[in-house]
Amino acid sequence: MSTQYALVTGGSGGIGTEICVELAASGFRILALDHPSRKEHLTDWLEQINQRANTRVDLCFADVGEFDSCLACAEEIIDQYDSPTVLVNGAGITRDTTLRKMDKHQWDDVLRTNLDSVFNVTRQFIEPMVEKGFGRIINISSVSGQSGQFGQTNYAAAKAGMHGFTKALAQELASKGITVNTISPGYVATAMVEAIREDIRADIVKQIPVGRLAQPAEIARVVSFLSDENSGYITGANIDINGGLWMH
Ligand code: CAA
Repeated sequence: MSTQYALVTGGSGGIGTEICVELAASGFRILALDHPSRKEHLTDWLEQINQRANTRVDLCFADVGEFDSCLACAEEIIDQYDSPTVLVNGAGITRDTTLRKMDKHQWDDVLRTNLDSVFNVTRQFIEPMVEKGFGRIINISSVSGQSGQFGQTNYAAAKAGMHGFTKALAQELASKGITVNTISPGYVATAMVEAIREDIRADIVKQIPVGRLAQPAEIARVVSFLSDENSGYITGANIDINGGLWMH
């Protein structure tokens, strides 16, 4: 694998898949990271994406919520492929319920997967990026981290935390040729949004000024833009892609 590659956590997900395709179209080779338990389900995905993408897409496995799992995976990656030029922290889950009903597992699962993951994965690749004097780190947050959302105290807290991480790390790495940015999608046509009860989803769509869900590719093209070597003056930013749902 050439040294110009992108590591995409959650790369097989609804948004992640399009990010892989778009970054491949920009010339990066792709390493999509997923949970070890999903290994056998991803054979078809890998075949299909390699038909769509114009560079090679490979898979690697780690539990992004576990530091040691990420460390072991990163050692293998660096050994086999070198360190990534672009890191997209896109792994995320929901466990929606009101706080009055939320149990500790629903809180912990979301905080571990959506926020601890950003530390667990990013920490592994900082030194090689600094040594190379170049890197692009893109954290996929959510409009829920900005506006809050009924039933998402866990998810909104994690997603808001991601952008705090982005801003702090952007300052630490600005002089090293590495940019760190957040993208905050609104409601995107993915399985995660399809899982919202139909009447609630319809109410949400009514509130979106553009009048529809986003397509995953509309998120991916901004990831590609931020990944470009000519995007070096954008750092610590949070880019909204929400159809006008949240303006601030
Ligand atoms: N604001 C104020 N009150 C609300 C409300 C809202 N947005 N939504 C519901 N309520 C009220 C209801 O009217 C109801 O009131 P009463 O008890 O007086 O009748 C009460 O709260 C309970 O509402 P539900 O019937 O919805 O409660 P539930 O326990 O069945 O469901 C829930 C709770 C699972 C959180 C459900 O409300 C829900 O799915 N909400 C949508 C959550 C959402 O948007 N998730 C996004 C997932 S996709 C994603 O996260 C991607 C991304 O980045 C955007």
